[in-house]
Amino acid sequence: MRPRVEVGLSLTGSASHTMAWVLALGRSLGAIELNPDLPRKKILPPNHSLLMHSIKFSLFRRDFDLEGWCRSVQKNTAGLRPDYFTVHYGADWHEGSRVSTFLPITPTPQEIDLACDRLNYLASQFQCPVGIENLALALSQEDCLRQIEVIETIRERVNGYLLLDLHNLFCQSVNFGMGLSEILTWINRDKVLEVHVSGGSMYKNFRRDTHDGEVPEEIWSQLPQILTTLPNLRWALFEQLPMDFLSDLILTTNSLRRLLPCLENLSSTQAIPTRPKPLLGLKHHTPDQRALEVVSLLAKKWKI
Ligand SMILES: [Fe+2]
Repeated sequence: MRPRVEVGLSLTGSASHTMAWVLALGRSLGAIELNPDLPRKKILPPNHSLLMHSIKFSLFRRDFDLEGWCRSVQKNTAGLRPDYFTVHYGADWHEGSRVSTFLPITPTPQEIDLACDRLNYLASQFQCPVGIENLALALSQEDCLRQIEVIETIRERVNGYLLLDLHNLFCQSVNFGMGLSEILTWINRDKVLEVHVSGGSMYKNFRRDTHDGEVPEEIWSQLPQILTTLPNLRWALFEQLPMDFLSDLILTTNSLRRLLPCLENLSSTQAIPTRPKPLLGLKHHTPDQRALEVVSLLAKKWKI
């Protein structure tokens, strides 16, 4: 029997998000995702899984102060015991600067060792499983596959899990001409504990994970089938950045109401077994011009 899958929300602390969960779910939120990089301001409702999702933890940045970061997170989240701790894949530095988005990277073996050490430390400090979220940005179709391979290498070495962000995957699918279900064939779906469902936007003809739009219909239509192929999934979360009160309320309420029925019958269904296709042998890739434009734009925006 597969575990019960709980619906959840990235809790930003905004009144609109809190109202949306009450309207959509009648207070019974199964999982809350907190950003532990911010001090906790709100009293949390009882009886839910607590997921921590850092936007500051760095897998690869050389000058990242892991121990100092851990101390600040422990202070911010005093008294809370996470069920699961997730971090982002990608590069968040350049020449000593830090950007507020994660960029594509092909790490060296030394950087992979560093990432594994950091995740092992994280797991030991918080005494819970750790997971890595897949990235939306990529430089080419080959880079999408390379990222899957690197994430799986790190995940396997730390005995961790995957946080599968379906909109991030959708961005890669749109930008590099692969079907969502096609990209999924390379992912080790047995190790997915959590999915993120969110929206985004287009920059010219390039899809970005801006978390400020409707969840695409392509994701909603494929979601029930995708969920059946994730046998160990425990949490499905809607993610959205706060915009204005009314838009947030409508978007979050509607999204939670659509997400819930997709999960209700899952525990009584048999998971469909999958085996990831091997990805060995990817040697190099030619960057896509649109991807380069977006990465340069982000670099300029954050003055790196
Ligand atoms: Fe996400």
